[in-house]
Amino acid sequence: MSPFHITRTLPAAGSVTALRIDVLDGLTSKHKTLPPKWFYDARGSQLFEDICELPEYYPTRTERALLTSHAGHIAAATGARTLCELGSGTSQKTRILLDAMPRLHTYVPVDVSESAITQARQTLLRDRADLRIHAVIGDFTPPFDLPDTPGPRLTAFLGSTIGNLLPGERAEFLAAIRSQMAHEDALLLGMDLVKDEAQMVNAYSDAAGITSEFNKNVLAVINRELRADFDPDAFSHVALWNGDYERVEMRLRSRTAQTVRIPALDLVVDFAEGEDLRTETSAKFREEAVRSELAVAGMTLTHWWTDPHRLYALALVVPTPDPTAH
Ligand code: SAH
Ligand code: TRP
Repeated sequence: MSPFHITRTLPAAGSVTALRIDVLDGLTSKHKTLPPKWFYDARGSQLFEDICELPEYYPTRTERALLTSHAGHIAAATGARTLCELGSGTSQKTRILLDAMPRLHTYVPVDVSESAITQARQTLLRDRADLRIHAVIGDFTPPFDLPDTPGPRLTAFLGSTIGNLLPGERAEFLAAIRSQMAHEDALLLGMDLVKDEAQMVNAYSDAAGITSEFNKNVLAVINRELRADFDPDAFSHVALWNGDYERVEMRLRSRTAQTVRIPALDLVVDFAEGEDLRTETSAKFREEAVRSELAVAGMTLTHWWTDPHRLYALALVVPTPDPTAH
C-alpha cells in the first residue's frame, strides 16, 4: 500500500442524488434551508481557506494557538496510534498535532471535499512522507465507517464544525462517536464560545466580502449540478445572532420577488422579497452545557483549554468509565 491511501465512501453519482434530495427537501419547506456540506466544492473549499485568514475570523488562529500550546499534552494523555479527523479540510492545523505525536501509526482525514483531500495529500506527502495516511472522501453524518487502524484512536473534530450541526444532529453525532469508541480512545473537540455578539457576527460578515462569496457559492453548486438558474446577485448575504439558540445564522435573503427554476428536479421555487434561505448555523458553546451533552452521550470531559480572552475552547473527551467494569 502506498503511504497515502484514499477510500471513497461517497460515489460521485450518489452525491448528486443526495444533493437532489437535500435541495428538494430544503427548498420546498416553509422555512427554506440547505445543509452546509454543499458549500464545499473546490471553489467553496478555497473560499473557506480564505475565510480562515480574515482578520474578523478569530476561530482559526485562536484554535491554532491552543493546539500549539497543548498538542504535547494531548499526545501524551491519549497515547494515540491513530488520529482520525472529521471534516479535515486541508489538514493545516492538524500538522501541529501530527508533529507532536511520536507514537502515531496512521492519520485518517475524512472530508466530503475531494479537492481539500487532494490538497492535504500534496502537502502531507511532501512534509510527512514517513506517515501512513488513509484518507476517506466521505460524509461524517452517522452512520459512517472508519478504516480499521491500530488503537488507541484519537478522533479530532476541529474548526467548531460541531457547531454547524443542529442540536438533534449533534446529539446523534456524539452518540455515534461514542458507539465507535474503545475504552482507551478519546475525542478532541474545537468549539467557538458564546461571547460579545458583534465579535461573533463580524466573523461571518467580513469587510472584504469573502464570507458572502462563500455563502453564495452554494447557489453556484446547485446551478451547476442541477441546472438551476439562481442569480447569486439577486440575494444578499446575511449573518445574524439567534439568541434563543445561541448561534450565528447565515442566510441568503432574496432582494426581490423572484422565481428560480431547477430543471433536474422538475421544480420551480418562488421567493418573496426579503425571504430568507438559511444556509448555515454556527452554534456557540458554554462549558457546562457541553459537559451535559457529553454526559448524555456517555462521555466525560477531561480537559477544557481556552485562550486568555475565552473566545474558543479545545476539549479532550473520553468514554465515561463503566463503574461495573473491572
Ligand atoms: N477542520 C478544518 C476545516 C473546517 S471547514 C479547519 O478547522 O479549518 C469544515 C470542513 O468539513 C470542510 O472541509 C467541509 O468540506 C467538511 N464537511 C462539511 N460537512 C461535512 C460532512 N457532512 N461530512 C464530511 N465532511 C464535511
Ligand atoms: N465551522 C465554521 C464556523 O462555524 C464554518 C464557517 C466559517 C462558515 N465561516 C463560515 C460556514 C461562513 C458558513 C459561512 O465558524
